[in-house]
Amino acid sequence: METLIRLCDVCKVYNPGENEVRALDHVNLNIDVGEFVAIVGHSGSGKSTLMNMLGCLDTPTSGDYELHGREVLKLTDNELSEIRNEEIGFIFQGFNLIANLNAVDNVELPLIYRGIGKKERRKLAGEALEKVGLGARMNHKPSEMSGGQQQRVAIARAIASGPPVILADEPTGNLDSKSSREILGILRGLYESGRTVILITHDDDIARQVKRVIRIEDGKIEADYQNEENEEDEGDVQEA
Ligand SMILES: Nc1ncnc2c1ncn2[C@@H]1O[C@H](COP(=O)(O)OP(=O)(O)O)[C@@H](O)[C@H]1O
Ligand SMILES: [Mg+2]
Repeated sequence: METLIRLCDVCKVYNPGENEVRALDHVNLNIDVGEFVAIVGHSGSGKSTLMNMLGCLDTPTSGDYELHGREVLKLTDNELSEIRNEEIGFIFQGFNLIANLNAVDNVELPLIYRGIGKKERRKLAGEALEKVGLGARMNHKPSEMSGGQQQRVAIARAIASGPPVILADEPTGNLDSKSSREILGILRGLYESGRTVILITHDDDIARQVKRVIRIEDGKIEADYQNEENEEDEGDVQEA
């Protein structure tokens, strides 16, 4: 398998000195291209710190991070933002949609920054919204949609430009269980279509439905295992 992510002895220390918080404590981790991974841990365990690191939004205090063969610590800010724009789709718990823009305009926004022309943008945004089942909601504003629908818009925004990696930080944290299942189903579909999907959650029920689980506690990786193939993987198999 082709390695996507290689963290080697990575530490992240906030407020170095007396009140320091070791949010990541000597983390070693490999993730291959095309994996579906859940990173699970309690609140404060270091999940978001890890996601920010993986997504090149933050850099380690010490250790090495290689993303697809590139040493992240050696890249310039411009190179890092290029990687974020072109290779990673981010999904957050709070959706982070722009309130006064409708669904299709929200999805188009990052495409504007990529310099994609109006007509192509509209096409990509429309396709992404269709993919998350919101083809009929293109002109709705966030306030006119449920939480689950808003998160689907946020997923459409993250995938519109076709990034090979999806990073989702507690994407179901604000959602009821039915919407959570829908969001998980969409993420699974992205994985099945060949993307690498890294899902951060504090919810064990969600983690049980993801192929590989990495447990983090106090900034340390406590476990890393594969779930048995389950009914979600098989689609129509009912028995547990
Ligand atoms: N910017 C920051 N400054 C200081 N401490 C932080 C900062 N961000 C996170 N922390 C601390 O680092 C630890 C891990 O936080 P975080 O990665 O947000 O955990 P999680 O996402 O699992 O809830 C926590 O103790 C948190 O209080
Ligand atoms: Mg968090």
